[in-house]
Amino acid sequence: PPPPPRLGSGGWRVALLVIAAVVPFFFIFFLFAHEEKEGEGKKTGAKKVAVWKEGCYLNNFVQGVLDTFPQEELKGSTIIVSGDGRFYNPPAIQTIIRMAAANGVGRVWVGKGGLMSTPAVSAVLREREGGAAYAGLVLTASHNPGGPDEDFGIKFNTASGSPATEVITDAVYARTLELKSYRTVEGTPDVNLDVVGKTKVAGMDVEVIDPVEEYVALLKTVFDFPTLRALLARPDFSFVFDGMHGVAGAYASRVFVDELGASEESLLRCDPREDFGGSHPDPNLAYASGLVRRMGLDSSAQPLQGAAADAAEPPTLGAAADGDADRNMILGRRFFVTPSDSLAVIAANAAAVPYFARAGGLGGAARSMPTSGALDRVCERQGVPMFETPTGWKFFGNLMDAKEMGHERSYFPFLCGEESFGTGSDHVREKDGLWAVLAWMSVIAHRNKVETTGDGGGTATAPLIGVQEIVEGHWREYGRNFYSRYDYEGVASEGAEAMTDNLRAGPAQPGDDLGSGFELKGIDDFEYTDPIDGSVSKNQGVRVLFTDGSRVVFRLSGTGSVGATVRMYIEKYEPDPSKQGLMTADVLRPLVDIGLKMSRLEEFTGRSSPTVIT
Ligand code: G6P
Ligand code: ZN
Repeated sequence: PPPPPRLGSGGWRVALLVIAAVVPFFFIFFLFAHEEKEGEGKKTGAKKVAVWKEGCYLNNFVQGVLDTFPQEELKGSTIIVSGDGRFYNPPAIQTIIRMAAANGVGRVWVGKGGLMSTPAVSAVLREREGGAAYAGLVLTASHNPGGPDEDFGIKFNTASGSPATEVITDAVYARTLELKSYRTVEGTPDVNLDVVGKTKVAGMDVEVIDPVEEYVALLKTVFDFPTLRALLARPDFSFVFDGMHGVAGAYASRVFVDELGASEESLLRCDPREDFGGSHPDPNLAYASGLVRRMGLDSSAQPLQGAAADAAEPPTLGAAADGDADRNMILGRRFFVTPSDSLAVIAANAAAVPYFARAGGLGGAARSMPTSGALDRVCERQGVPMFETPTGWKFFGNLMDAKEMGHERSYFPFLCGEESFGTGSDHVREKDGLWAVLAWMSVIAHRNKVETTGDGGGTATAPLIGVQEIVEGHWREYGRNFYSRYDYEGVASEGAEAMTDNLRAGPAQPGDDLGSGFELKGIDDFEYTDPIDGSVSKNQGVRVLFTDGSRVVFRLSGTGSVGATVRMYIEKYEPDPSKQGLMTADVLRPLVDIGLKMSRLEEFTGRSSPTVIT
């Protein structure tokens, strides 16, 4: 969701007006100082905690959201308020509960401890009491760090479980600019979020619910839990999951340990903490370094050398999820699976997932534009419709609900993913970190013909085919899309914009020989017309395309909270199996050089090297 304006850093004045008719509990706080509007440019909910705490920023944001819903629908409705456990979650939840009561909401559901993952909120919206909830507010800044000096944010989802569309977030943003007051109640004690049960706040029902129940029930309809249990019971299969101290931990112990029989030791950092243990809860090679080493790799995905390599044999499967548990990273023993490959492999092995298999295979698939073209080759071979969308999970929503939106056909069951470590299906309307892990377990079980034997043990007849063998086999069959992403975080916005403008202006011409055998096919600015509602999204990233199918894409991140983040995505397709084992960095180096030179990135941003390479 967009940020509300940053209201008056020059001293807040809040006038309390008592409205006679609703004394003693209901109050309207009037907002002043609208003239100072900062931070209007970036459309992201992620902001420093200090911004949220200053003046009435949180109240203004929440009132903007509540005002944007048709009031006749909001009154008496049920809304979900929960978060990923980061700093400022508990007071924000109490504030939102009070504001919901004052705005006529009928009932609020909160996950125990205030915790609920983003995909679980989507599941609860769709499933609980037959989809009784009207909207969900998720208090998270996703994969950004947490703590008093770090980030906080609010995402919100509508009744279908989907993130709010841009039309809605734009309306909320506009509303926050004109708001003069917000409604709340006073004199009510804080709700005890740690005990499941019902209570009332100024007449409104508040229910603290088990945050895992509907979600796990849903996963059980998507995957075959007995088969996964049998895989985990195999002596030659081992597993480790890094919850990164985010909300995934609450789900991991229930799903992996209680349901599937994994050992407690297989869970790393699975206690949610308000500061994520001081680390960056983003599941990638840089930020999940402990897990990456445990899997026998260094931060550039190369097998550890020397003494480090002699440590304990890495597990068969390693995985991690981000703060709100919608992102995932998949690792094999001494092997990193790029998110783009992960998506393609799941697509190629859709028969392994009962949710897809029951429908006779995939009904459709999609990837974001910067995600590699590996998925395209699988869909082409299987005759599955494939869509290339702009970055952002919300663009998948219409495709998942095509039929309901009056489109001639449905694409159910739908698989989609992004290079930014997001993978999922239409079982919910968000990407889903745990789903990705269970999908990979399903693929491994399928490829190893793991069957339930009744006594819970798998039938281990041949050596286990692991993650690396599965991915390398996939490359041999479909070709390999070498892929890497360079991030330049916290650069000055002006420089980043100027660099993009320069690229748009076309610094090279089609047919130009750019060295190392790369000939320019063209440069374009990605534009997407939604096939379901016809809406057009422009300026979604500049693509530098080469005649051999390689490409370098430049995009400005929409999720950073400080300055601008420039992303450069590099991809090269290699059909020849004898060349598929080369190192990604070596294969992509000429393209990286061409990209940097053409974009004049260093000149515009002042950066000679990226902050993170994934
Ligand atoms: C969020 C969205 C993803 C999107 C990602 C892009 O995580 O939920 O759908 O891919 O942001 O992030 P970026 O920083 O590249 O804009
Ligand atoms: Zn996230």
